[in-house]
Amino acid sequence: MKRTFKIVGNWELNKGIQESLSLAAEVTELTKGYQSVAIGIAPVSLSLHALAQKHSGTHIHIGGQNTYFEKSGAFTGECSPTLLKDAGATFCIVGHSERRQIFKESNEDIGKKAALCLEAGLDLIVCCGETEAERETNKTNAIVESQLKAALMNCPKGLAKNITIAYEPVWAIGTGKSATPELAQEAHGFIRGLLETHFPGNSEHMVIQYGGSVKPGNAESLLKMPDIDGALVGGASLKPEDFAQICNIANNLSN
Ligand code: PGA
Repeated sequence: MKRTFKIVGNWELNKGIQESLSLAAEVTELTKGYQSVAIGIAPVSLSLHALAQKHSGTHIHIGGQNTYFEKSGAFTGECSPTLLKDAGATFCIVGHSERRQIFKESNEDIGKKAALCLEAGLDLIVCCGETEAERETNKTNAIVESQLKAALMNCPKGLAKNITIAYEPVWAIGTGKSATPELAQEAHGFIRGLLETHFPGNSEHMVIQYGGSVKPGNAESLLKMPDIDGALVGGASLKPEDFAQICNIANNLSN
């Protein structure tokens, strides 16, 4: 089954508003001929509105890195899915391992965020992945299963096409130590099976991205795997040539 590859840059807490506009403009220019790959950028939330306005109607989708699970109210410092949508976001990442580890988000929090994003009309990228200790003790599948079950529990079955999963082993994020294609494929195959249970008949059409030290040098071997349909890219997405090269590899593999 041929799926459209999806490459998304997670800029994490990097770049000011003007820098973000220039970086996104470079990415747009460098990737403008790529018809067979879906490309997204998740900038810091303060830059999102400016970027979304600039890129509305282009091939670059702008999305949030995180959100909150209430629509409005006395939640100082938070930003809801409705607001992200209003600012021009088309998608939102939930459950990134930095949110889980640093900000102590629970599986339940992430499930609530996921459901509210879909309700607000945002596409979702749901992150999952095990720590090094969990992998070493053979808990990878159990961890990924519990993370995804909780995240998808309240997601309407009819919205499967709006949901992307990003498998990001925590030990591979920002470390330069990517999972081998074979190891990533094993996890992606397992995730495809879980998706089939949650969304019967739809898993073949759903995108499962790999994330964790994706670079131009390893993108092709990862994306050639049958269940790897894209990448969530951190560090390399801040370098426009590197990010564009990863998009180019995905575009070529689609053709
Ligand atoms: P990395 O980050 O590509 O720098 O490992 C991945 C991510 O932040 O999702």
